[in-house]
Amino acid sequence: MAFTIAIDGPAAAGKGTLSKALAAEFGFAHMDTGLLYRAAGFRTLSGVDPVDAALALEPQDIEADNLRTPEVAQAASRVAAIPEVRQALTDFQRAFARRDGGAVLDGRDIGTVICPEAEVKLFVTATDDVRARRRHQELVNKGHDLTLEDVLTDLQVRDARDSARATAPLKPAEDATVLDTSEMSIAAAIEEAAEIVRARMTQV
Ligand code: DC
Repeated sequence: MAFTIAIDGPAAAGKGTLSKALAAEFGFAHMDTGLLYRAAGFRTLSGVDPVDAALALEPQDIEADNLRTPEVAQAASRVAAIPEVRQALTDFQRAFARRDGGAVLDGRDIGTVICPEAEVKLFVTATDDVRARRRHQELVNKGHDLTLEDVLTDLQVRDARDSARATAPLKPAEDATVLDTSEMSIAAAIEEAAEIVRARMTQV
């Protein structure tokens, strides 16, 4: 049986951590859809046409480590504004969302465009400052040499572009539950989200 958990929100809001934890808790498959746009964006940095890049994506492309940099994130955000790029990635995400056994997808448009019928929709957010600090720490831990300001600028520029685009902009679905994690521990955010999922499971 299909059961979809759609997790949307701005950059570095903790969607990845939350999605992985929910997938583990409920035995669901997880897809970080940002990686699709990052992999396509990465290819455009060496001159590949964005739509060709999206059409040619292979599963191994999204496993690369070098997708987690602010430069690739910006390229991802730019290609994500092109309707044909989004279209090229839609069927794959939809099929994953409705697979048997349950799925968690995190991104920007999962609850609004990819899977409006998702059983659970969360919009995960936190203040710019909190998000920048968390992402900065994560990148520094991985050995990147970046200032907090670099990270804050990256998030703000992307969020503005992702929210302003005409196709599938970043915004909460009307029926999404907003989870502001600014003052929450990871464990508390996971528990609150898991409660919402459990409550919904008893209704379907
Ligand atoms: O989730 P992320 O930060 O890895 O995403 C990178 C960029 O990809 C983000 O700035 C916008 C785009 N994106 C999107 O437009 N739609 C999605 N479902 C996921 C990501």
